[in-house]
Amino acid sequence: MKVGDVNYRSVWRDGDNVGIVDQTRLPYEFGTLRLHTCEEAAHAIKSMKVRGAPLIGAVAAYGVALAMRSDASDGALAAATDRLMRTRPTAVNLRWSLERMRQHLGPLAPEQRGKAAWAEAQGIADEDIELNRAIGRHGLKLIRDAAKPGKTINVLTHCNAGWLATVDYGTALAPIYLAHDEGIAVHVWVDETRPRSQGFLTAWELGSHGVPYTLIADNAGGHLMQKGKVDLVIVGADRVTPDGHVCNKIGTYLKALAAKHNGVPFFAAVPSPTIDWTIADAMGEIPIEERSADEIRYVHGLDDKGKAARIEIGARDMKVANPGFDVTPPELVTGIITELGICAATREGLASIRTNST
Ligand code: MRU
Repeated sequence: MKVGDVNYRSVWRDGDNVGIVDQTRLPYEFGTLRLHTCEEAAHAIKSMKVRGAPLIGAVAAYGVALAMRSDASDGALAAATDRLMRTRPTAVNLRWSLERMRQHLGPLAPEQRGKAAWAEAQGIADEDIELNRAIGRHGLKLIRDAAKPGKTINVLTHCNAGWLATVDYGTALAPIYLAHDEGIAVHVWVDETRPRSQGFLTAWELGSHGVPYTLIADNAGGHLMQKGKVDLVIVGADRVTPDGHVCNKIGTYLKALAAKHNGVPFFAAVPSPTIDWTIADAMGEIPIEERSADEIRYVHGLDDKGKAARIEIGARDMKVANPGFDVTPPELVTGIITELGICAATREGLASIRTNST
């Protein structure tokens, strides 16, 4: 996507290093960072300088390539993948990507692994872009169908599933960009998404692309649906199970409940690496990340002088829980938008995707 006049991916090879967009500086300033080691890649994922399921997977793959530069032994390959695997638990794209790197590099001689690791990481990144483009094209049909002449179509989204969360284009936002580009009047209700406020990233992305949007508090969505101000909900996902459960950023489930109650279609936009075919019991088996209490106790922003500031909003001794994700059951999901088309959030629907893609 373009930032000013420059075309950016959210991660790229930069000589023998890796470049990323530092998402912790947005929306206040746009900045990039260079990662030199696997440890730096792991830290970037853990600290959410990069975030979003597909991007986490791509950065982890590049992290393996960084590790192979200094030591491409079997032990170093295992250590790098183990280290990266421990960064964040919920997005299955991380495991998918690291397994792919392990399977590709494992059979090779150590002296072949360096070059092969860069090529495979690049392949994962390039493929992500193609998957998202295809998701965009399929999702666009939904928006076209819902659009009425002379009327703006209102889409609600939660968290950030745009180009920043992927290598490019985004998942949930890809159809919105295409709809806007072909002249459909589309407006996006952007959930703030406390506590990490990924909605600010979505607002920044949409604003940069010229898509009309309105940032709302997380609790506003249900009210807007009751008032008939939401035509469609599209979110991303960190893990989808074979029977259609959608695990995504905390708060997604409440939006799905409100959508069902108000007859608003609710879709998840999901590339196939986000489907975890191993899960039999969604509520029991998906690891839900429990994040730091400080994310609830403090807010980050700019002070009156425009300097980065951290403000305490709760007493230090208050008990806090901070689950990062929730699981929306299939009966609340109208459909899953994948690179292969839109399927039902059912075992049969998802099986049709599996036959073609894995
Ligand atoms: O904690 P985050 O910001 O990594 O969570 C991101 C989300 O929940 C996204 O909706 C999901 O990863 C899909 S991104 C295309």
